[in-house]
Amino acid sequence: MHTYSLLAPAKINLYLEILGYREDGYHELAMVMQSIGLADRLTLRPLPTQTIRLLCHHPELTDTANNLAYRAAQLMATEFQDMFSKYGGVEITLDKRIPIGAGLAGGSTDAAAVLVGIDLLWRLGLTREELQHLGARLGSDVPFCIAGGTSLATGRGEVLSPLTDLADLWIVLAKYRSLHIDTGWAYRTYRQQFGQPYVPQPARPAGERVRSGALVSAIAHRDHRQLGLNLSNDFERVIFPAHPQVQQLREVLQVQPGVLGAMMSGSGPSVFALVESQAEAIAVQTQVREQLADPDLDLWVTQVIPTGIQIITDG
Ligand code: C5P
Repeated sequence: MHTYSLLAPAKINLYLEILGYREDGYHELAMVMQSIGLADRLTLRPLPTQTIRLLCHHPELTDTANNLAYRAAQLMATEFQDMFSKYGGVEITLDKRIPIGAGLAGGSTDAAAVLVGIDLLWRLGLTREELQHLGARLGSDVPFCIAGGTSLATGRGEVLSPLTDLADLWIVLAKYRSLHIDTGWAYRTYRQQFGQPYVPQPARPAGERVRSGALVSAIAHRDHRQLGLNLSNDFERVIFPAHPQVQQLREVLQVQPGVLGAMMSGSGPSVFALVESQAEAIAVQTQVREQLADPDLDLWVTQVIPTGIQIITDG
């Protein structure tokens, strides 16, 4: 039987609006999600016994049973018990490159890769929609991570409408290594401070409806300047007061030459800046490293990509 290696890309949010809270405890969202080149690598190897094993060297991911990648394999084993008996278990080796607790969907994309990989290992032949349906049970961002690219995401984040792929956009990503944000905490805090029960759109006055139109139009026209001007993330309202260094990081990125716009991703604390070339991205990275000179600050140069989970070897 085959061993599969997969690339699991991170995402950034070009737009994140929290519309209100829902009866199921989640929040109703309007987001624009974008896959980026920074990616984890996962290898799935068949095991002769009905065992799920997760190997990961990351010091902060020692509790493998709680890892979303492990839970994705458990979900597949429960849903497809016959195939689990027929083909046996799986050993997942996770090479973690996406920072954790960063607002980059690192855990969700690993889960997405496990769903795609087990579908191949057990020859299930599931459609993308079926995989996304399973993924939504693991986390709101998992369906997007399976498809990737550029997408509008509504509902709790699992209802996707693909947008025109962006190209030739480079990203400088920045994160304080020791700072992690718990997404649940970020939602609870937002709700305490700004939350309102979800009001269906038609019941709202026009000015209070979703404000993503300008950004979506900029994407449709591949207008990078307008795209940079219309980035938005409601979570900055709770993360910046709690962690002023994240606000400072965004402000420093924003004023660098060539930067079209800078914004926090997801519930933070990673921050990204958009530029139009690799050379500009490297220049921004160098400048920010010099200006902030903090050994706790990690910086990456990457670019937008049009895909989610990719199979890199099958052998
Ligand atoms: O869906 P996921 O497991 O990734 O969600 C992580 C946390 O974020 C949970 O605490 C969930 O309640 C919260 N969340 C939310 N509204 C969403 C998505 C996530 O309140 N639309």
